[in-house]
Amino acid sequence: MIAENLTSTAKGDNSASRPPVSDPAAEIEFEQFRRVLSRFCTGLVVVTALCGTAPVGLTCQAFASLSLDPPLVMFGAAARSTSWPRIRAARRFAVNILSEHQEGTSRAFAVSNPDKFVGVRWFRGSHGCPLIDGALAYVECSIEAVHSAGDHEIVVGRVLALRDLPDPAEPLVYFSGQYRILAPSHAPGGGIGGSVHDQDTDLARS
Ligand SMILES: Cc1cc2nc3c(=O)[nH]c(=O)nc-3n(C[C@H](O)[C@H](O)[C@H](O)COP(=O)(O)O)c2cc1C
Repeated sequence: MIAENLTSTAKGDNSASRPPVSDPAAEIEFEQFRRVLSRFCTGLVVVTALCGTAPVGLTCQAFASLSLDPPLVMFGAAARSTSWPRIRAARRFAVNILSEHQEGTSRAFAVSNPDKFVGVRWFRGSHGCPLIDGALAYVECSIEAVHSAGDHEIVVGRVLALRDLPDPAEPLVYFSGQYRILAPSHAPGGGIGGSVHDQDTDLARS
């Protein structure tokens, strides 16, 4: 297969514009990748920074806690984002963890628009980053490292300050391409043991 590909390229046909067959990514279909990875349920954050006096921000699902000692978090920034270069230039950012009441905020910060903060109430954190009113919690960071990763960059943030609400609301959740709100489990004891057990039984029978 690889030899065939190399041969046809050497003959000068159009195959050079296709991904090489030896590239594992060529085996992965875009739609399948999106569908399967959408089964991983996440919260949503808006990553913000102060660019001069102008606040900037983008909605982000690819956020995670990374290290306790030293305290680090990470997020994935799309290379095509227009906000990310401005956040990078600011060298500091805040992670605003969205509550169930902030679907509108998530949608507003998920589009390229210089006026994303119009009508949004925010205040400055202790390190100067914009913190959006009503978020569940906030993490202010300095940019520790940026790693290139395909069509994204992995941004590692050193945590400078943390803040949460004494009586937090529920989080905004994203699953299978849709916004969701958490519901309490109906299983005895609050767990999901019932349904998992049923599925295990079925698998054992097949
Ligand atoms: C549910 C959802 C999750 C998203 N997650 C990310 C993400 O993890 N990283 C990212 O760079 N963009 C993510 N985006 C897209 C950005 O929000 C969007 O590209 C960005 O706001 C565009 O504006 P900008 O040009 O100002 O950056 C997500 C969008 C949605 C709707």
